Amino acid sequence: MAAQKKLYIKTYGCQMNVYDSARMADVLAPLGYEAAAAPDDADMVILNTCHIREKAAEKVFSELGRFRPLKARKEKAGGRMILAVAGCVAQAEGAEIVARAPHVDIVLGPQTYHRLPEMVARATRAGGAVLDTDFPAEPKFDFLPRQHASSGVSAFLSVQEGCDKFCTFCVVPYTRGAEYSRPVREVLAEATHLIARGAREITLLGQNVNAYHGAAPDGGTWGLGRLVRALAECAGLARIRYTTSHPLDVDDALIAAHRDVPQLMPFLHLPVQSGSDRVLAAMNRKHRADDYRRIVDRLRAARPDLALSSDFIVGFPGESAADFAATLSLVREIGFVQAYSFKYSPRPGTPAAALPQQVPEEAKAERLARLQELLTEQQRRFNAAAVGRVLPVLFERAGRHPGQLVGRSPWLQPVHAAAPDALIGAVMPVRILRAEPNSLGGSLAAEAEALA
Ligand code: SAH
Ligand code: SF4
Ligand code: F3S
Repeated sequence: MAAQKKLYIKTYGCQMNVYDSARMADVLAPLGYEAAAAPDDADMVILNTCHIREKAAEKVFSELGRFRPLKARKEKAGGRMILAVAGCVAQAEGAEIVARAPHVDIVLGPQTYHRLPEMVARATRAGGAVLDTDFPAEPKFDFLPRQHASSGVSAFLSVQEGCDKFCTFCVVPYTRGAEYSRPVREVLAEATHLIARGAREITLLGQNVNAYHGAAPDGGTWGLGRLVRALAECAGLARIRYTTSHPLDVDDALIAAHRDVPQLMPFLHLPVQSGSDRVLAAMNRKHRADDYRRIVDRLRAARPDLALSSDFIVGFPGESAADFAATLSLVREIGFVQAYSFKYSPRPGTPAAALPQQVPEEAKAERLARLQELLTEQQRRFNAAAVGRVLPVLFERAGRHPGQLVGRSPWLQPVHAAAPDALIGAVMPVRILRAEPNSLGGSLAAEAEALA
């Protein structure tokens, strides 16, 4: 057994980064690294970074500054703190990190973290930073050990990585590389392992998860719909979700899975970005607002209780007041119950950053406020409509108050209810009594009411 060392990982960005952070901990566990809740006195610190918007990227450099004294203190005490920067900023700005922050020991991209033990060994031996931002031919998944720590009742499972869509505003195709799908057998093995370790819900992850096309045991290639069906056959798995998907890759098989697979939850995050065809074309989204409406109609015909969530960008270059109004109408029409919305942030190296007609900051701020007001109101109405209903809730963990658990409704709403700890991991009927802006409160209902 290697001596025990403290590992602190700070994660920014999307759920793929959350998954990656857990896998980096798995890779480092055989070297004796144990996850710590705070960075003080850590033997290794990893910042797993996000490059999607300017603010996210800038945060990394200010955060790195804060680690300089911690690292110096550790060295004064005769120890060593290895500081690593991982994720999408590392991929995009690796050389700049090394130049601007000489106290960084390791810079690694999202596709090379299976090589972490080797990088740690090199960083320990030699001075100077170890930089590994390759896109190796061998997929990292082939080299990852099994999950070390339990990922809890609700687990993430990356099945797809990278993106070939090249939306003109987005860095992901550059930071994550080309689309790759993990083979079906590997996905099912990981799912079985997660379930054995207590997972009752699995969220399949990918930058573009419904572009999934994995090599299947039958010699063919399976899309996401087929994968979901296979997953539904895993004993003990109560709920399946997937995120993030692209409208263009919603195919018949996936829609049919929403109709036929009860474990597939009726809540879908399907980013549309804008309601204006002009803006969608300039974004290179390759679909019109009407295509989106039609896809949603078909999904709802398959699963009438489906609720939708989305991502929006306001103030994309050239977005007029009329374009923005089209976004507001689409939001009302689809009735999104949840969404993330952002001001357009020009990203170095992306085509949209070079477009003329950048929208002034004040207009972006004003549009974002109006969009968020509408989205918040729709979310409030959706939550309020749950009051009085009995919903199946998957309890995930203890709540803030003693004797209380927190779980999720089928539509991902957090639900608080008084319940014994023994119910963590169980799907229970809960009568909803209160709706807050972002959560619901209720009490356990009789089993007989479960399907009310
Ligand atoms: N693969 C997903 C999105 C990944 S990025 C998809 O296709 O929808 C998550 C969200 O960040 C995007 O949906 C978009 O709304 C937002 N985003 C990406 N680049 C951005 C930029 N340059 N400025 C503002 N928001 C951006
Ligand atoms: Fe980015 Fe577009 Fe790919 Fe989504 S589909 S990750 S927004 S390029
Ligand atoms: Fe950010 Fe990279 Fe995810 S840029 S959103 S961490 S894919």
